[in-house]
Amino acid sequence: MLTVDLNGKCAIVTGAASGFGRAAALALAACGVRVAAVDVHHEKLKETVDLLSHPERKHVYIGKNLRPTQAAGEVMAEAIACLGQLDILVNSAGVCHFTPAKDITPEQWDEVLEVDLRSLYFLSVAAAEAMDASRGGRIINLGSNAGRKGRAFSAHYAAAKAGVANVSESLALAYGKKNITANTVCPAVVLTEMWERNFKELNTITGKSSKELIEGWKLATPMQRLGTVEDVANLIVFLASDYAGFITAQEINVCGGFMLTC
Ligand SMILES: NC(=O)c1ccc[n+]([C@@H]2O[C@H](COP(=O)([O-])OP(=O)(O)OC[C@H]3O[C@@H](n4cnc5c(N)ncnc54)[C@H](O)[C@@H]3O)[C@@H](O)[C@H]2O)c1
Repeated sequence: MLTVDLNGKCAIVTGAASGFGRAAALALAACGVRVAAVDVHHEKLKETVDLLSHPERKHVYIGKNLRPTQAAGEVMAEAIACLGQLDILVNSAGVCHFTPAKDITPEQWDEVLEVDLRSLYFLSVAAAEAMDASRGGRIINLGSNAGRKGRAFSAHYAAAKAGVANVSESLALAYGKKNITANTVCPAVVLTEMWERNFKELNTITGKSSKELIEGWKLATPMQRLGTVEDVANLIVFLASDYAGFITAQEINVCGGFMLTC
């Protein structure tokens, strides 16, 4: 795991109960960051905060659904009250569905767009406003390979993730003068909890078993393996560090080259 000195920095990490969010929270904490961990899944978020536990650095538990319109303001107020400052925001909360185009309902469309895109935007703006120009800031958004190409079975998810990359660019433009960078990290398939439901949906649509799907993805990846949450957390730590101070408005793949073939 990449370690850099981030002592004295404070971060909000959404989706911290699981997957990339939990890995990012742990990786940033290992670099000295105080983390406010946000998620709607209370039990698993408590596990993350227990894993973060440190004798000198008090991390913060914020059990909250990010979907309601008032959530961004509430999360920010609670995080600032506990941390006192904000230097890094990692937006990893997300939902995904594999649904044939004709079966996507307006309700499912709204769920994906509201969690993956709308809440990310409003939390990012609230964070950028709270960040101090003299310290600078980092906004790191979870996009996806799916945001770079259309998808037959997840039009809503692909649209949301394409939107994430565009929102990162808009944030980079709006807040660059405040010394804030905004970037999008794009993994391909990484077997997090998200895949429990994803597999059920994909098995039904494709008629393939999860094992067959995984083998196909590995073969289609030049590096011949799937990614890990640590592969992604390493990039998040790098983007949060001083080494990445002049990198902004970028959409960066962490996918072993899968983008070339998918
Ligand atoms: N795993 C992959 O293959 C993959 C690939 C590309 C991009 N991504 C993206 O990475 C991000 C994290 O995915 P993951 O694989 O770690 O998934 P995950 O399911 O393991 O974690 C996502 C977390 O978001 C939380 N969440 C969902 N809706 C929420 C809400 N309304 N309010 C607060 N929290 C909410 C969930 O409770 C969960 O803990 C997502 O944005 C996802 O789209 C995942």
